Amino acid sequence: MREPLRAMVRETALAVDDLIYPMFVVPGKKVRNEVRSMPGVFQLSMDELLNECELVKKLGIPAVILFGIPEHKDEVGSGAYDPHGIIQESVRLLKKEIPELVVITDVCLCEYTSHGHCGIVKGDDILNDESVALLVKEAVTHAEAGADIVAPSDMFDGRIKAIRAGLDANGFIHTPIMSYAAKYASGFYGPFRDAAESAPQFGDRRSHQMDPANSEEAMREVELDILEGADVVMVKPALPYLDIIRRVKDTFRMPTAAYNVSGEYAMIKAAGRNGWIDETRVMMETLLSIKRAGADMILTYHAMEAAKLLNA
Ligand code: PBG
Repeated sequence: MREPLRAMVRETALAVDDLIYPMFVVPGKKVRNEVRSMPGVFQLSMDELLNECELVKKLGIPAVILFGIPEHKDEVGSGAYDPHGIIQESVRLLKKEIPELVVITDVCLCEYTSHGHCGIVKGDDILNDESVALLVKEAVTHAEAGADIVAPSDMFDGRIKAIRAGLDANGFIHTPIMSYAAKYASGFYGPFRDAAESAPQFGDRRSHQMDPANSEEAMREVELDILEGADVVMVKPALPYLDIIRRVKDTFRMPTAAYNVSGEYAMIKAAGRNGWIDETRVMMETLLSIKRAGADMILTYHAMEAAKLLNA
């Protein structure tokens, strides 16, 4: 009788429809490269992406977020806003074949620039406004391809307002923006940069991503993004910033997303493989804690595994 009683007084329940699965698309055919630092996560060519998304759909996961690695990188990240770029074509394919799957696109330049920065670089600086103009072009081409939600991840100033205006001017008045609103300059993104091949070739992202010591600043960043037109606000990473998720949710009462990032995933996988923790148990405890902190949706590389358990 103990377990049924516990279930009756349990406060938080994780559900499959809380999950968003991040995926990496690369050029080519029949490509499935496992990411060295992220066991179980693959760089996929478009055909393989489609197969994998069929599984995502079958498991009941409502949404994926796509990251693209282009054929060629250049100084200005042209691949990011090419109307026939890798993400634009992937979105077209997925929306044609699996229309019910929500397709979110990450809007950023770092995967597309030769220097790995999220914008246009001049000397030691990133040019904010010039970069934002390119992000607008990128977001509009994603919407034209059929993206259901665009998710700017750069953290430049004024980008939500500009992207909202750009989408509206092109007729995409119903395309919501999921803003990476409180994004910290974090060591936990290391494995992602293997997956997306987007490590900065010099310097770091501390000019625009947030100082891990700051909580008040997170509130200002989130507030600005809401005022500029964000429909969903995201806190990233998740586990080291559960306090921020809670504050954001309590203060703004907005649809709130949390990104359980690559380094969080890699740590669980590594410890699990060493037999140092019960991997499945720690994974579910982690996801539940993010939900308990106030997240309405969780971007996580554990999505497929967690969905299998939740469905069982
Ligand atoms: C930037 C972007 C990053 C992540 C998502 N979008 C990397 C960065 O800011 O360097 C990280 C996600 C993760 O670590 O899982 N396009």
